[in-house]
Amino acid sequence: MKTIDVCLSPDLMHLYPVGDRVVVVVDILRATSCMVTALAHGVKSIRPFANLEECRAIKAQGYYTAGERNGEKVEGFDFGNSPFEYMNKKLKDEKIAFTTTNGTQAIAKSQGAKEIIIGSFINLSAVTEYLKNGSNNVLVVCAAWKGKVNLEDTLFAGALVENLKNNIEPDCDAPLAAQHLYNLAKKDMVGFLKGSSHVKRLNRLNIHKDIEFCLTPDQYPVVPKLINNELILTQ
Ligand code: MLT
Repeated sequence: MKTIDVCLSPDLMHLYPVGDRVVVVVDILRATSCMVTALAHGVKSIRPFANLEECRAIKAQGYYTAGERNGEKVEGFDFGNSPFEYMNKKLKDEKIAFTTTNGTQAIAKSQGAKEIIIGSFINLSAVTEYLKNGSNNVLVVCAAWKGKVNLEDTLFAGALVENLKNNIEPDCDAPLAAQHLYNLAKKDMVGFLKGSSHVKRLNRLNIHKDIEFCLTPDQYPVVPKLINNELILTQ
């Protein structure tokens, strides 16, 4: 049977060889939820950057610049990090360069993986099916917050472990812990996450509606995949 493991923070990536794995990068609040929304609404591709200045510089090559630092839009960038900004007709068939505090850092740290795909609750079933049908072992990489474990990414990892329990076997205890947590939280994830650090941070920034949107499963049947440094939809 194939296996699934969970890296709860990018700072633990040295413990997980990725060369033979499909990596699912997850940053529920809000980077990977934005990426899924943007591509599902017709954006041509998203180029993720760990480095803010490199992201800014590529605008000259015909990209819109997008992203945040510490939850707030980067000065001079075209778009921030709310999924609602990406339901925008103006962005159809356009290319976006994207940098965020944690999500795009987690993608950078996953380089070398056999495949890199993007997961979020809003494309949960599509990712589940993709992994079920694939032949590779799975590693879920939680973007977390500046190296510290967070609840929302762990819940998503647990949802995948739960959905795949008849097809893919947990590799270690992190997937089991995530699965238990998800089963505790799944009836009311918004309530479960009320006291979590990033929900409190977003609330302080008056960002409320993004939270509920990002926690609503299965809004888009798409699986973004990193190919030649660009996230695209292949199917
Ligand atoms: C990140 O990449 O850290 C997040 O997407 C932060 C945010 O919610 O803006």
